[in-house]
Amino acid sequence: MKKHAYVFDAYGTLLDIHAASQNHSGLLGENTAKVSDLWRKKQLEYTWLRSLMGVHVDFWEITKDALSYALEYFEIDHLECFDELCASYLEIPCYAEVPQLLKNLKDQGQKVAILSNGSPLMIQSAVNANNLQYFFDEILSVEDVGIFKPDRKVYSLVEEKLGVTPEKTNFFSSNAWDVAGASVFGFSVVWVNRFNQPAERLPGMPRLTVKSLEEWWEKEG
Ligand code: LAC
Repeated sequence: MKKHAYVFDAYGTLLDIHAASQNHSGLLGENTAKVSDLWRKKQLEYTWLRSLMGVHVDFWEITKDALSYALEYFEIDHLECFDELCASYLEIPCYAEVPQLLKNLKDQGQKVAILSNGSPLMIQSAVNANNLQYFFDEILSVEDVGIFKPDRKVYSLVEEKLGVTPEKTNFFSSNAWDVAGASVFGFSVVWVNRFNQPAERLPGMPRLTVKSLEEWWEKEG
């Protein structure tokens, strides 16, 4: 029997990265969308910069540092917002099509996993908040290798932990830079281009581009 795996990035692919800010628009005001964008932008920048500097902290610390920066940038009262946004991020909702898609894959008997920058506690918390825990064979975190995507050591975790080779790994990400990294590594990559972004000018091409996981299921499920 062929051994395939269906491996998902978490934040932005399964989990709605803008929901925490949107749910607190009363506190964040007219800059809600801009705070959310800057929070995400800084969160990612800090992963790459810390990986280059060789000074690792987990994604929860990075997420808090990035939020702190974004709140100060927009001169939003830190005390009032910080804890509420952090708490929300731990229970971040999934995108609408995700539960059904995961159920479909499980019904087919497929091997399904998450491969995320998120710390084990963060991912587990979000997965439980969305009642998705039954659908995953493995939840793989970069904490096992102590460096963030797109370091090859992160993508290597799939073969190490699931026993599935890169060419038999279907990897799904909405993050174009993660798509590039995973493609260069050798995964068969589906770019879930939720935000209608242009392709990065980086090496590594997705095998397929779709707008949602539902569209992928219609095409290849
Ligand atoms: C993750 C980041 C890239 O979940 O969103 O790995």
